[in-house]
Amino acid sequence: MSYLSIRDLDLKGKRVFIRVDFNVPLQKNEKGIMEITSDKRIKASLPTIQYALEHGAGVILASHLGRPKGKPNPEMSLQPVAARLQELLGRPVKMAPDCIGPEVEALKPAPGEVLLLENLRFHPEEEKNDPEFAKKLAALCDVYVNDAFGSAHRAHASTEGMIQFVPKAAAGLLMEAELKYLGMATTNPARPCVAILGGAKVSDKIEVIRNLGKVVDKLLIGGAMAYTFLKAQGLPIGKSLVEDEKIELAKSLLAELGGKLMLPVDHVVVSEIAAGAANEVVATIPDAKIGVDIGPKTIDAYSKVIAGAKTVIWNGPMGIFEKPPFDAGTVALAKAVAASGAVSIVGGGDSEKAIKAAGVTSKITHVSTGGGASLEFLAGIKLPGVAALNR
Ligand code: 3PG
Repeated sequence: MSYLSIRDLDLKGKRVFIRVDFNVPLQKNEKGIMEITSDKRIKASLPTIQYALEHGAGVILASHLGRPKGKPNPEMSLQPVAARLQELLGRPVKMAPDCIGPEVEALKPAPGEVLLLENLRFHPEEEKNDPEFAKKLAALCDVYVNDAFGSAHRAHASTEGMIQFVPKAAAGLLMEAELKYLGMATTNPARPCVAILGGAKVSDKIEVIRNLGKVVDKLLIGGAMAYTFLKAQGLPIGKSLVEDEKIELAKSLLAELGGKLMLPVDHVVVSEIAAGAANEVVATIPDAKIGVDIGPKTIDAYSKVIAGAKTVIWNGPMGIFEKPPFDAGTVALAKAVAASGAVSIVGGGDSEKAIKAAGVTSKITHVSTGGGASLEFLAGIKLPGVAALNR
């Protein structure tokens, strides 16, 4: 893949439109004000914003937030993001009342200034990738930079459509880092390369399993999707979560991947799912029990594989990790990944929470900011936001 980097652009005196992914989690406080509960995505784009400012550009930032269904919704305004960004940048951030229109045009930033546009999805044309809307966004700037890896799987006006209407388009520093690490993991990884895949459903990750299966040396499966594979092998899974309609598919994946795919050999089981519920470790799941985590023998076996890895790709928890103590398997593997010294790439909100809970975030090489986008990338699907930069 070839695309320009922001570092290839002459930004001096230019107005640069940076598509960021500021789709941050918000929560209403007791005064009814929306507050940001994680500013990770804002921090992740700071290097790109700072780079543009240091190189003499006036910066226009644009993002979606939530799914407002094409209508303005004050609870999904980017206003709280402007306030947080201003603190992080240590310089004023002007908030635009909209993302297009004469009022926005009048606010065009001079070199060194930052303007944050209001939520792009307040206009239905954004998600429809409407060319007229894309032209209006493009008219705001001299150059376009896409730093929104988390939205690169969406072919929307700001991520895909407007690129054909701007004189120059390039990837931002975050976008570059994401593509570098995820690309390295999926095309030319240092070996042995191990993927850890968890989460509830096989159906969410079929293409990821297939695509990674071609590249990696081992695929460690955990979470509820393991039960679908175990049932496909004819093993008892009690009342554990299972996708019966995916059993045949699981059988064919088992046949395709042969010995590469490792499944849990023991399980933590309960009679009902509740935090702190009485539990036991079993090798064979009894009829009345529900599997909620991988057991110690599995942790041991998976940790040994991880210890020998040179590259680890991880997406999805090993059990119901939000209900301790059923986070033990996920946390143990997070520690094993950190201790392995391998190049480690973690994607997906739950796996990120797990490495944080295990206190090992700083030991992970790359934590992706993209949930859906990183899964599609790992599945080998071309991301429209990236393909458009290539063009
Ligand atoms: C995400 O959080 O995965 C991205 O910001 C994309 O959001 P979307 O799923 O609403 O398009």
